[in-house]
Amino acid sequence: MGLRHDEIWRDTDGRPIQAHGGGLLYHDGVYYWYGENKDAENRPADTVGHRVDVIGVSCYSSTDLLTWTNRGVVLPASDNPDHDMHPSKVAERPKVVYCNTTQRFVMWLHIDKQDYRQAATGVAVADEPAGPFRYLQTIRPAGLDSRDQTVFVDNDGSAWHFASSDWNATTLVSRLSDDYQSFAGEFHRVFVDRKMEAHAVIEHDGRYWFLASGCTGWDPNPARSAVADSIIGPWTELGNPCTGPESEITFHCQSTFLFRTPDGRVIAMFDRWVKEELRSSRYVWLPVEFADGGMVIEWRDSWEG
Ligand code: GAL
Repeated sequence: MGLRHDEIWRDTDGRPIQAHGGGLLYHDGVYYWYGENKDAENRPADTVGHRVDVIGVSCYSSTDLLTWTNRGVVLPASDNPDHDMHPSKVAERPKVVYCNTTQRFVMWLHIDKQDYRQAATGVAVADEPAGPFRYLQTIRPAGLDSRDQTVFVDNDGSAWHFASSDWNATTLVSRLSDDYQSFAGEFHRVFVDRKMEAHAVIEHDGRYWFLASGCTGWDPNPARSAVADSIIGPWTELGNPCTGPESEITFHCQSTFLFRTPDGRVIAMFDRWVKEELRSSRYVWLPVEFADGGMVIEWRDSWEG
């Protein structure tokens, strides 16, 4: 039985899943879903836009991509007002990768202040996939602003951070250090002046595939896609890969992650934001098809695993 896109997705305790702006990791036969826990009342939107206080990063685990067990808040907010994970801050779009060399799980997330002018990225590590994660540092790639972000590990073990930079105008692709815990010093500007957010990257059939949104805050816009022979480009844009009802606004969604299952299928994960009540934001997961040199994401009413 699948998870319907018009219904609230619940964990094995029957509680709504809180894993927004998230991503998946497959490790030792188990899928881990990490995302923002937004299970709080929205703050009044008149001052800083629609937001909830930071609670932390949730983790859920599954063996079938349908039945999710809550593993708790694996990187919780800090009660220290000076800490970048204080509830008054912004901690978004967490992604976790596994480093074979150190055998550690490394989380990268967008760290910001309420006005989104800090524009940095946070790094946390854990010895086990379900944490606990220890916050290591807040950094900026090449000292530049970094907002929406994702991390991708290539087949050769190199890891890459994709982030909105130059006030979201450009995507900055930064190589991570061998332990995945900082930047290696190699930075590339791609999609210059294309104004993208919500990046997701996957390798499929020897090429790199990219999914993103435009920049309209919590409101949906047409998705973007692109393909490249090298992770640092040149990237060729392919347009909106979505087809079906409301595909012109990405089915009322914004991308968050591309995941390749162990048997080679590619899943596109989206958030369907409810900005007036962010804790009620929904999830939409759809299979990605690769046809005629392009990428196609067709609407389906449910995620079937
Ligand atoms: C979106 C972004 C979200 C969040 C939101 C705040 O564009 O993708 O992660 O930052 O803006 O308005």
